[in-house]
Amino acid sequence: MGLQGRDLISGYDLDRKEVEVVFAMADELRSESRKDSLNRLPGCSLAMIFQKPSTRTRVSFETGISQLGGHGLFLSADDMQLRRGETIADTARTLSRYVDAIMIRTYDHQDVIDLARYADIPVINGLTDLLHPCQALADFYTIRQKLNGLQGLKLAYVGDGNNVAHSLMITAAIMGTDIVLATPNGFEPDKEIVGIAREIAAVSGSKVELTDDPMAAVEGANAIYTDVWASMGQEEEALLRRAIFRNYQINDEKLEAAAPEAIVLHCLPAHRGEEITDSVIDGAHSVVFDQAENRLHIQKAIMYLVMS
Ligand code: CP
Ligand code: NVA
Repeated sequence: MGLQGRDLISGYDLDRKEVEVVFAMADELRSESRKDSLNRLPGCSLAMIFQKPSTRTRVSFETGISQLGGHGLFLSADDMQLRRGETIADTARTLSRYVDAIMIRTYDHQDVIDLARYADIPVINGLTDLLHPCQALADFYTIRQKLNGLQGLKLAYVGDGNNVAHSLMITAAIMGTDIVLATPNGFEPDKEIVGIAREIAAVSGSKVELTDDPMAAVEGANAIYTDVWASMGQEEEALLRRAIFRNYQINDEKLEAAAPEAIVLHCLPAHRGEEITDSVIDGAHSVVFDQAENRLHIQKAIMYLVMS
C-alpha cells in the first residue's frame, strides 16, 4: 500500500489518499477478530520513548502493538542514556538493531526529525511541542465516523495555537475540511505551520482561517474542538493563561451557536472548568471518549502499514 517503512513525523508526510488508506485499515482492524489481528505483526517490537507524561498515547500504542501480535517497550527518556548525553543519532542507530519501529514523545520537534534521519526503521511522532499527528488522524477519523464525511464541513478550534491546533490545521487542509482557529492575541498558531496548511488547502479547496473571536469561530460549526490552555512544559504559565483565555471556554453558549448536530472534540486530558465545562464535555454532543478510543484503531493501522 506504499506506506511500508515510512515515518509519520509531521502529518503532511501523508497525502489525502494515504490518509484514506490509514482510515480504511483502521476500519478493517476494528471489524476483524482479535485472533486475526494477532497475525498482523507477529514478533515485531515497537520502542516507545517518552520524555513527557502520557495516558492515551502510551496505552493505545502499547496495547495496539500487542493486539497486532507484537510487543511494545516503554522507555522513559529519563531512564535512558539519552539523559546522560548519548546523542539522538546514536540512540536511533542502536534501537534500529533491536526493534522494528520507534514511537517518540518529546519537546523539540527537531529531535523526531533527527531520530528518523538516523534510524533505518519507521519513526512515529507521539507528540512534540510543535505537532501531534497521530492525534489529528484519530480526530478526523472520528469526525468522519460521526458526521459521515469530511469535505464541506466547518471545524472550529478554540483555545491555544498549540501542537494539537497545528496538526488539526494540517490534517483539515489535507482532507478538505474548512477550519477556523480562534486564539487570543499572542497565542496564534505558528506562522510557518499556517503557511504549510494554507498551501495544502489551496490544492484541496478548503479554508484555513484565523481569528481572535471565539463566538465567530463556533458560529454554524459542525465540529468544535478545544485543548488545554497550558500544554506540557508550560505549567508555570497556567495561572496567567487562565485569565487570558477566559472567553475561549467551550460552554453551553458556544455550543448553542454551532450547528444543531455539532460534535464536540477534545484530545484529552481536559482541564474541566477551564477550556471546557462539565456540561459540554459530559453532554450529548461530546464524542471525546470515542475519539480517545480511535487513537487505538488509527495507531494500529499506522503501525501495521509502516511495519509490515
Ligand atoms: N491526547 C493525548 O495524547 O493524551 P496523552 O497525553 O494521555 O497521551
Ligand atoms: N497540547 C497538549 C496536548 C496533550 C495531549 C500538550 O501538549 O500538553
